[in-house]
Amino acid sequence: MNISAELYVAEITEHRIMISNNMLSYWRIIQDTISLYKRAGENPMIKTSIGRKAPNKNNTIELMNISKTYGEHTREILAVKNVTTSFRRGEFTAIVGKSGSGKSTLLNIISGIDRPTDGEVTHGETRLQDMSENELARWRGENMGIVFQFFQLIPTLTVLENVLLPMDFCNVIPPGQRQEKARSLLERMDVIQYAGNLPSVISGGEQQRVAIARSLANSPAFIVADEPTGNLDTGNSIHIVSLFREMVSEGKAVIMVTHNNEIAADADRILYISNGELFSDTKAVDK
Ligand SMILES: Nc1ncnc2c1ncn2[C@@H]1O[C@H](COP(=O)(O)OP(=O)(O)O)[C@@H](O)[C@H]1O
Ligand SMILES: [Mg+2]
Repeated sequence: MNISAELYVAEITEHRIMISNNMLSYWRIIQDTISLYKRAGENPMIKTSIGRKAPNKNNTIELMNISKTYGEHTREILAVKNVTTSFRRGEFTAIVGKSGSGKSTLLNIISGIDRPTDGEVTHGETRLQDMSENELARWRGENMGIVFQFFQLIPTLTVLENVLLPMDFCNVIPPGQRQEKARSLLERMDVIQYAGNLPSVISGGEQQRVAIARSLANSPAFIVADEPTGNLDTGNSIHIVSLFREMVSEGKAVIMVTHNNEIAADADRILYISNGELFSDTKAVDK
C-alpha cells in the first residue's frame, strides 16, 4: 500500500477534526496516525513527508487582544482575556500563575496548538488565523519545539525514532542528514546511550531530555514548554532549565509555564497570569 503525502495530510486533518478538543496536542494526533500506519503494515518512519518549504525566519510572535472562551451561553468560561504581548528570539520567558488561570490555554495559542476565540497571532507576515489546519500543523512543525509536562514520547517508538519523527513529518532536514542530526541532539542531551531503547526503560529526567531533543529536531526558533519540570526532582529540573538557557543563548525564544518561583526567577522575563488576564510583565531580577 502506498499512502501519498496528501492522504497523510488528509488523515491528520480528519483526526484533528474528530478529536478536536483543545487539550489534545498534535503529538497525540501523530500518535494516532502512526497506529493507523502500523495497522496498515506501513513503516511510519518512511512515508511521513508533507512537502518542503523554507522555514519562516521571523524573529517575533505577536499576540494582539487574544481571548479564548470555552463552552457556550450560560456555561461560558473566559480562559484568556484580551492578552496583548510578544515573544522574541533570544529571550527566556516564564509564564506563572495559579492553577486554572489560563497559562496552558495561552501557551497553546502561542504555539498554534489551539486557536483564540478573538484576537490575532502573527509571526512576521504570517497570520495564524489565515491558515488551514494543515498549514498550521506544518507551521508548528517548522517553527515550534513543544515540550510537555509528561514528556509525551511515543511509547512504541525508540528514543531515536521519537527524535526522527518530527523531521520526517516536516521534511525540512534532508533525509540523508536526519539520523546524524537526531544522534547529535541525543548526544547533546546526554541520552545517546538509549537511542535504541523504548522510552519506558529510562527515567523521567532522561525522557524529558529526549523530548527536548525531539523539540529541537527541525531547529525551530521557538520552544514552548508547559510545566516541563512539573514531574521532575530538583536536580533534573535545574538541568532542564539550564538546557533551555543554552538554547536562548543560541538565539531561540523559550516560553515556559511553571509553578516554581525559583525556576521562574531564572528567566529573563516573567509574565504573571491571573484569571486569564496578563496581570504583570516584569524583567526577572533575581538571577
Ligand atoms: N477544553 C476545555 N474546556 C472547557 N474549559 C477548559 C478547557 N481547557 C481549560 N479550560 C478552563 O479554562 C481555564 C484555564 O485553564 P488552563 O489554561 O488549563 O489553566 P492553567 O494552565 O493555568 O492551569 C480553567 O478554568 C479551565 O477549567
Ligand atoms: Mg496548565
